[in-house]
Amino acid sequence: MLNWDDFHEDTVDDESAAAEPQKPAPAAKPTAQPAAPEPEQVRESASRYQVADEDRLARARKSLDELDVAAGLEELEMGAARIEVDDKKMINARADLNQLVPFKYEWAWQKYLDGSANHWMPQEVNMNADIALWKSNDGLTEDERRIVERSLGYFSTADSLVANNLVLALYRLITNPECRQYLLRQAFEEAIHTHAYQYCVESLGMDEGEVFNMYREVPSVAAKSAWSLKHTQSLARPDFHTGTPETDQELLRNLIAFYCVTEGIFFYCGFSQILSMGRRNKMTGVAEQFQYILRDESMHLNFGVDMINQIKIENPHLWTAEFQDEVTQMIIEGTELEIAYARDSMPRGVLGMNAAIMEEYLHFICNRRLAQIGLKEQYPGADNPFPWMSEIIDLRKEKNFFETRVTEYQVGGALSWD
Ligand SMILES: [Fe+2]
Ligand SMILES: [Fe+2]
Repeated sequence: MLNWDDFHEDTVDDESAAAEPQKPAPAAKPTAQPAAPEPEQVRESASRYQVADEDRLARARKSLDELDVAAGLEELEMGAARIEVDDKKMINARADLNQLVPFKYEWAWQKYLDGSANHWMPQEVNMNADIALWKSNDGLTEDERRIVERSLGYFSTADSLVANNLVLALYRLITNPECRQYLLRQAFEEAIHTHAYQYCVESLGMDEGEVFNMYREVPSVAAKSAWSLKHTQSLARPDFHTGTPETDQELLRNLIAFYCVTEGIFFYCGFSQILSMGRRNKMTGVAEQFQYILRDESMHLNFGVDMINQIKIENPHLWTAEFQDEVTQMIIEGTELEIAYARDSMPRGVLGMNAAIMEEYLHFICNRRLAQIGLKEQYPGADNPFPWMSEIIDLRKEKNFFETRVTEYQVGGALSWD
């Protein structure tokens, strides 16, 4: 199979080499012009070098002369009134989307800043203890190994599903620049998460084909992935547009399916299992990766909840009793799928938890997701059996946790201009 890697080393220059003048060309016509030269004269006098192919340059200039400037100016709405905050809307806005300011949704900009301040990379985590434990014969029980395999199997593709939904389906439909700024940040974080899972799989020497195909080979994993994918399909069609109550509701379904269910429920069994393992001093590198990811994910979830609630405020006609009933149903479906995954990944009690306790936790999580978007809790009185999970997610602790390493990261990555 042909691969560009086999060829490009000979052809790619680095810029510093390209910038070395090899043979100074004869200087262009002497141009000791008085002030304010004509544009044509500036062109000729700007560089000491002459173009190798005069004809090519002439064709480029002709093409520029023929450019349909009028159409371009119309596209930019040249001379239109400046953007006012009130012109901005979450969906179906007609305001110019190339202008970040003035801000309307401070919460979106703040989350972009917070997400950027928490930047991390998978290679910063030491995996040595995990590798030794994973490769030893009696380091982990079969049930513990199953949890690591199932988790990496689900997550290694789940974050790609989320990223693809963001970039290929959702982004163009959210018509607000500060929200788009966060979506771009989130998309990069999803890439880091997929990288983190790949890094764990590679470090532990797991079978990559088996892990990355689990989302279509292991039923409890495939069911969750298929459920998420179902909700990305209509929005990803190029002819999908918002602007009618039906299509606007379809967008809301997508937001609820991805933020509240996929990132808000489908991640929680695996996260709590792996973090419980880390709390018992097992697979601490994998657990640390998951801890960073959970912090990012809790912000993705909060951002999604803010978007959903903002769209509801701006478009109350979408939030009908019938629609509320439908999305409540979606969230219960997601909870059921995650409970099935908990049973499959924990056939017996392990790490101080079992499928029944996880079910209670997921009922608690389901109630939270419903309440966050203003819907009625469906499991009255469900309690949180894992209060330590809430402590890890807690935003104030997140900031303290990152204080030292963010500084280290910035020092390590700072550019010197000396
Ligand atoms: Fe993620
Ligand atoms: Fe996410």
